[in-house]
Amino acid sequence: MTIHIGAAPGEIAETVLMPGDPYRAKWAAETFLEKPRLVNEVRGMLGFTGSWKGNPVTIQGSGMGMPSLSIYANELIRDYGAKTLIRIGSCGGMQEKVRLRDLVIAMTASSISTPSRGIFRELNFAPCADWSLLQAAVRAAEAKGTPTHVGGIYSSDVFYDERPDLNEQMVRHGILGVEMEAAELYAVAARHGCRALAVLTVSDHLLTGEALSSADRERSFADMVEIALEAAFA
Ligand code: HPA
Repeated sequence: MTIHIGAAPGEIAETVLMPGDPYRAKWAAETFLEKPRLVNEVRGMLGFTGSWKGNPVTIQGSGMGMPSLSIYANELIRDYGAKTLIRIGSCGGMQEKVRLRDLVIAMTASSISTPSRGIFRELNFAPCADWSLLQAAVRAAEAKGTPTHVGGIYSSDVFYDERPDLNEQMVRHGILGVEMEAAELYAVAARHGCRALAVLTVSDHLLTGEALSSADRERSFADMVEIALEAAFA
């Protein structure tokens, strides 16, 4: 057990899917895993372990924002031996071509700061996805026919942003979408020699103001979970 995860040693798989929302972890585990077992409920941040096509998988909520994700990613890797971590979440679209429900696969994640920032001091570390996972996720998305964009995203510290000029710069520089976790996931995984990827569905759009209904969100979430699982075991 760790401070934030109550699973016994051996109860966490080497492959972990990380949605922000713990109830999404429950839904995904019950929908896609064989024999899902609740392995963590500390602070209500639910985690489940089961198997997919015979492969052990844990689906553990990360909470919202990089400080929360960082706690879970660190404990999963350092204490439980996780090796492959895939964030499954949502993002706000930042380009015209990126539509609601499309998939965004994050090659890199820009940020103002991450919980790892202190280590790098004056260096601007460039958090990037694991290539093998990225390539496999793109192939799985293509096979499913899901409209997919691959490129840079922006991991923000704020949802209610009082600095719209930063979003404008991200749009101007071709950033596909904004979310709040991937840059730290990529940094922590890199530090420990693990593979990481963020697969996101576009739930709202910064240029048009549109947003998905919760029923639509669930449908796109299902495709994303399957693509993440295919990528993990390709
Ligand atoms: N901003 C930040 N994070 C998000 C958004 C957004 O618009 N949509 C989904 N995650």
